[in-house]
Amino acid sequence: RADLPLAGKKVVVTAGGTIERIDPVRYITNDSSGKMGFAVAKAAQELGADVTLVVARTQVAPPLNINTVYVESAMEMYEAVANVWQDTDILVKAAAVADYRPKSPAQHKIKKSGDALQLELVKNIDILQTLGQQKTSQFLIGFAAETENLEQYAMDKLQRKNCDLLIANDVTQAGAGFGIDTNIVNIYDAQGLVKSLPMMTKEEMGLHIMELAAERLAGVGK
Ligand code: PMT
Repeated sequence: RADLPLAGKKVVVTAGGTIERIDPVRYITNDSSGKMGFAVAKAAQELGADVTLVVARTQVAPPLNINTVYVESAMEMYEAVANVWQDTDILVKAAAVADYRPKSPAQHKIKKSGDALQLELVKNIDILQTLGQQKTSQFLIGFAAETENLEQYAMDKLQRKNCDLLIANDVTQAGAGFGIDTNIVNIYDAQGLVKSLPMMTKEEMGLHIMELAAERLAGVGK
């Protein structure tokens, strides 16, 4: 519907935790359930956007009626987002992406041998930072999952990754972070704290985030 705040906008949302293979049956991942990203994607759709979800490993099923691209690793997530990047109006990076991956994933299942096994990790591409550095008109929303120094680390990520908004959650707080249905966040822009959202469902939070993005995109509240 043309009267909705995100009508005609293309929104890309990443959700879940990437999988970085060690061998064909083992991998490194994290606790992301996908819930936060799914809530943002649903909110964007409710507000009229044309939404694409890029989904790594999740613990819950993605919403049924949203165009979804399934990926495994950070590299695959990067490629999926890069494919639609030129036409993207808003990118929301709610996914928890592995910073490192095994250097040489084994082709066959690693057999048990000595008392210790060394796994060498190499740095993954930073999807948000890479795209942030080459953004033209895209509005970039990053997330930051922190366990300490929330504001300092969030502002550092916002600047380094060239985000327009950064959603920071202290994942040690009860009611916030991975796996559960609620979250507690601070939202920052380049000037600093925009607003603090108290504990609420991820669905409600998704709407707050996308409403703010719509306002910013329309040039309101700057
Ligand atoms: O999925 P849920 O269970 O609902 O949990 C929600 C959540 C805790 C995963 C979510 O609220 C959240 O904080 N997501 C971001 C998690 C994360 O990876 O944060 P980070 O601080 O490591 O990364 C900062 C930002 O850079 C993120 O937007 C991330 O997507 C992005 N990033 C990170 C590393 C990388 N190699 N590429 C990236 O694009």
